[in-house]
Amino acid sequence: MFANRISQTLHDEHRATIALMERLEAAISRRQPINIADPAGARLLADLAAAIEADTLRHFDFEETQLFTMFNSVGDQLIGDHLTEEHSFMRPLGEKLIAQARAAQADGFDADSWREFSRSGAELVQRMVVHVQKEEMALLPLLDQTMDDATETRLYEAYVQASQGTAAT
Ligand SMILES: [Fe+2]
Ligand SMILES: [Fe+2]
Repeated sequence: MFANRISQTLHDEHRATIALMERLEAAISRRQPINIADPAGARLLADLAAAIEADTLRHFDFEETQLFTMFNSVGDQLIGDHLTEEHSFMRPLGEKLIAQARAAQADGFDADSWREFSRSGAELVQRMVVHVQKEEMALLPLLDQTMDDATETRLYEAYVQASQGTAAT
């Protein structure tokens, strides 16, 4: 879909994130605590904890440190600031959800912990869906149009290395 490999990689990660958010939303909307004896429920908790920690937080860091500056270079610093602010709302939610998912993996949910999990999960889903739509419409096309080949190669290698480093730990 994108010629630029950074745009394409981020796009693929956005799709994976949205797929995970859809599973989370479906589990929350059942309004019954996820049963950790149910393989699908157990898998969702494991996937959430692993993907948010290894993929989502790294993805945010990369966008902020390497990409949002490109908006500055075309004179639109507000967009980068806005997307950074959205990350800063989602980071603590994501960290909370990792901790809640790990605790549930060990002990299951009771009514209170399920309510807490549902609340942070629903907020993360809502914020993430809107955020990803904005990036798909504004960030990825801009990168695709403005990034030169040398920058693309350098950033792509750095990104692949960072993701392999995270995946290995
Ligand atoms: Fe982002
Ligand atoms: Fe993103």
